[in-house]
Amino acid sequence: MTGTDLHIATRLLQQGELVAIPTETVYGLAGNAFDAGAVTKIYKTKNRPQFNPLIMHVHALEQLTQWGLRIPEKMQRLAVQFSPGPLTYVIPKSDRIPDLVTAGTDAVAVRIPAHPLALALLKQLDFPLAAPSANPSGFVSPTSAAHVEAQLGDKVPYILDGGPCRVGLESTIISFLQDTPEVLRFGGLPLEQIEAVIGEVRTVMTPKDQAEDQPVAPGMLSRHYAMRHPLERGNVAELITHHDPVRTAIISFYRAYTQVPAANQFVLSPAKNLDEAAQQLFAAMRNIDQLDVDVVLADIFPEEGLGRAINDRLKRAAVPA
Ligand code: TXA
Ligand code: MG
Repeated sequence: MTGTDLHIATRLLQQGELVAIPTETVYGLAGNAFDAGAVTKIYKTKNRPQFNPLIMHVHALEQLTQWGLRIPEKMQRLAVQFSPGPLTYVIPKSDRIPDLVTAGTDAVAVRIPAHPLALALLKQLDFPLAAPSANPSGFVSPTSAAHVEAQLGDKVPYILDGGPCRVGLESTIISFLQDTPEVLRFGGLPLEQIEAVIGEVRTVMTPKDQAEDQPVAPGMLSRHYAMRHPLERGNVAELITHHDPVRTAIISFYRAYTQVPAANQFVLSPAKNLDEAAQQLFAAMRNIDQLDVDVVLADIFPEEGLGRAINDRLKRAAVPA
């Protein structure tokens, strides 16, 4: 069932059930992080490998100290600027944090989502919410309640509808386990904004040289965001010449192509705005899955702002099955 009733969502979560929740990035599949039964249901419902840990969502950083977690100084500085927001912090865990949530690792990922319904919900609860993106493992994340309904509707008792996600890409993940902070996943908060506050950080993502069984962040598998059709990235105008244009779908930053049927074209931001393009990306990928085409051709986006995260997602979608 889909609705906007916070009481229903609160009650289900208190009973150890799962609820799909809106956030500003993507919808999450939430359960009580301190309830082993609920966390087990999350892994089962998503068909998620047990070695891939979950992000713990809270409404305020003070909750973390209460659970024995220490907030590094640079994290504190980022949090002042960007939390609530599309940024996830990886820090050393405490005994209070269940191993099931961290997949047996010594670190926990935490985030304060910037969505009024998610924050209102978290404030009603006296436990944090473990919440991965609300999609079957390996597929594109949902950016609307309807997306969740389509893939997990029969498995989740309640979908809390908070409208379309404002950011449209998952959070940026930054680790404080080493002296120099390290970005583990490009996402909804641009690298430039992070570095403006805490100076240079390390980045590690090169999906090409990551083996399936040895992801950098445990969950950063090479193939992810799977689509039904093969995907090629590059100069779309050039790529089209190798295919039957009528049988192609296009993910373009700002321009349209006269050779390709209009219904197969997803121009993410005619105004050349990377934030808008990011917001549109996952819905475009889902729509293309419904088309009868042979191949998807996608632009390489500028490596700045949210362009980095867009390129990362398309790169992973392009890894052959
Ligand atoms: O925007 C988001 O982050 C969304 C919304 C719902 O908050 N959540 C999300 O969760 O994208 P998920 O599970 O789909 O992706 C979380 C990523 C995974 O790649 C996981 O491996 C990584 O975060 N992660 C979680 N805990 C970690 C930890 N302790 N150390 C390193 N990476 C971790
Ligand atoms: Mg995910």
